Amino acid sequence: MAAVYKHELTTTTPSFKPSLANKRIALVFFENSTRTRFSFEIAARHLGAGTLNFSAASSSISKGETLSDTIKNLEAMQVDAFVLRHPSSGAADLITGITSKAVINAGDGSHEHPTQALLDMFTLREYFGKIKGLKVIIIGDVLHSRVARSNIYGLLTTGAEVGICSPVTLMPPDVSRLGVTIFTDLDKAIAWADTAIVLRLQLERAASGYLPSLEEYSINYGLTDERLERIQKHLLVLHPGPINREIEISNNVADRIQPPGYSRSMLLEQVTNGVAVRMAVLNILLAQHTGIV
Ligand code: CP
Repeated sequence: MAAVYKHELTTTTPSFKPSLANKRIALVFFENSTRTRFSFEIAARHLGAGTLNFSAASSSISKGETLSDTIKNLEAMQVDAFVLRHPSSGAADLITGITSKAVINAGDGSHEHPTQALLDMFTLREYFGKIKGLKVIIIGDVLHSRVARSNIYGLLTTGAEVGICSPVTLMPPDVSRLGVTIFTDLDKAIAWADTAIVLRLQLERAASGYLPSLEEYSINYGLTDERLERIQKHLLVLHPGPINREIEISNNVADRIQPPGYSRSMLLEQVTNGVAVRMAVLNILLAQHTGIV
């Protein structure tokens, strides 16, 4: 379904069947977002749904209203689905116990970001023609990354081999139970992999406090053309965004979408694919009326 939407999105005059006409989707964002929020909004509009944009700062949350009461009140206005981003792990799961409406987790704390993983896997499948057997290295701040967790579960389920590469201080304590290959040496990790998902160093979650210095992190774990050239490795590169330029990824790796060079960036392709994947998610989920993705 997402592939059909992607094909239509990239034509000059996309037109979609308004399968979600008369549906109302609340975009409930307690954290800032560019890609996820706007792609859900565009996806909903393409399918004919109306959107309600909620931000904590301008809502009655600022007067002390709870998340549960907020959701119940929005439901009383006949909302059909909630797209929730929240800084607390488990927030999306919590509200599935409060509402009978569809709930989509748009990122909860350091826990999961399922639609990001779906769009990453879609991007890999589109490029390689398969997921099964691919060796995917996830590089960077795995400890704080909901994107890493959702990708590990999704990629392993669909038959990929997954590696993670980070300083030990940025690995989750239960890392050996995740079923991934663990690297601390970036050159070895890249040599092993078919493709890389580079993670943002989550400076707002105090990631820098786990490192001696940002410069040292960049030297040891930053993905650069110079590193790829030194180890003679061509690599397809994904990153969920937003990027910290010249910290976890160099400008030339982030921006190169054409050869020559050792890297091929999929960053903007991922964003386009995010609209198609979120259209598919909304369509499937609202047809079922309830559930969590
Ligand atoms: N990838 C991602 O979740 O980006 P945003 O925070 O901009 O939504």
